[in-house]
Amino acid sequence: MNILITGANGQLGNEMRVLSKEHPKHHYFFTDVIETDGVQVLDICDKAAVSAFVTKHAIDLIVNCAAYTNVDKAEEDEATALKINAEALGVLGSQGIKVIHVSTDYVFSGDEHIPCRETDPVAPRTAYGRTKYEGEKRLLAECPEAVILRTAWLYSEYGNNFVKTMIKLGKEKESLGVVFDQIGTPTYAADLAWAIFTVIEHPIWQPGIYHFTNEGVCSWFDFTVAIHELAGITKCQVRPILSEEYQYKTPRPHYSVLDKSKFKKTFGVTIPYWLDGLKRCMAKLG
Ligand SMILES: NC(=O)c1ccc[n+]([C@@H]2O[C@H](COP(=O)([O-])OP(=O)(O)OC[C@H]3O[C@@H](n4cnc5c(N)ncnc54)[C@H](OP(=O)(O)O)[C@@H]3O)[C@@H](O)[C@H]2O)c1
Repeated sequence: MNILITGANGQLGNEMRVLSKEHPKHHYFFTDVIETDGVQVLDICDKAAVSAFVTKHAIDLIVNCAAYTNVDKAEEDEATALKINAEALGVLGSQGIKVIHVSTDYVFSGDEHIPCRETDPVAPRTAYGRTKYEGEKRLLAECPEAVILRTAWLYSEYGNNFVKTMIKLGKEKESLGVVFDQIGTPTYAADLAWAIFTVIEHPIWQPGIYHFTNEGVCSWFDFTVAIHELAGITKCQVRPILSEEYQYKTPRPHYSVLDKSKFKKTFGVTIPYWLDGLKRCMAKLG
């Protein structure tokens, strides 16, 4: 297959580039808004450019890793977030080919107490969540055969993310307050890339919405303690604090756990535990 991967400079896009080497039977086209080594320019909002690219390279499948992911900035500029997270999904979905797209736990309210299923009602509380949910709808309207993987708490060795920030702060500070009343599942972007290849390589195309994160649950506090332990940071005391003690610009969901039963049953796979994913990422970070 000829596979177009958008957002290839991001966390997930980079992990797709790494894992694609283990699947050499396909031909990959890596794209993003900025040209980098091995990555061509393609703005997913530019309908003419996307259609021309798909035709020129006889693309069979689009894997959309591109997104507007800054939750706080999305509150101030929802119009731009809507363009990238929603309008562009109409563009990608209208190419007459298969699409794999990535969405978010932010489509839910975060008020739940048990892991969210794909069939649970959505109620996004943020501009980011609203635009991502709108993107799901626009994609499915154009391309009912699409696969959407909702994920959460993504990190990797690429780009800026929570793991890297906590390592940096752990080295700089003697004490660090981290919230313990927000529960979710840290997800290694390499494992999400593996999930995407699981979908691609499955003998039967299985359209629909799926939840995919690593296994298990923890708070941001527990996550930070694990990051510092693995990084050998001993001089920074990590303190559990409440969300109300931290000045969030945008409200964060208290409960972001996704039920992955549908993905595991459909594709017959076992998903790695979050701490296992973190250990592999930390080993790569050195
Ligand atoms: N990060 C998380 O914690 C998290 C949680 C749940 C779900 N997700 C979802 O998971 C997916 C991957 O996230 P990620 O963390 O890998 O994102 P990321 O690191 O922010 O990467 C997104 C990439 O898309 C690029 N991009 C932005 N606008 C574009 C456009 N118009 N055309 C083409 N490329 C464009 C970005 O470029 P610039 O950086 O130059 O803008 C960036 O390189 C996204 O769909 C995200 O919504 C992420």
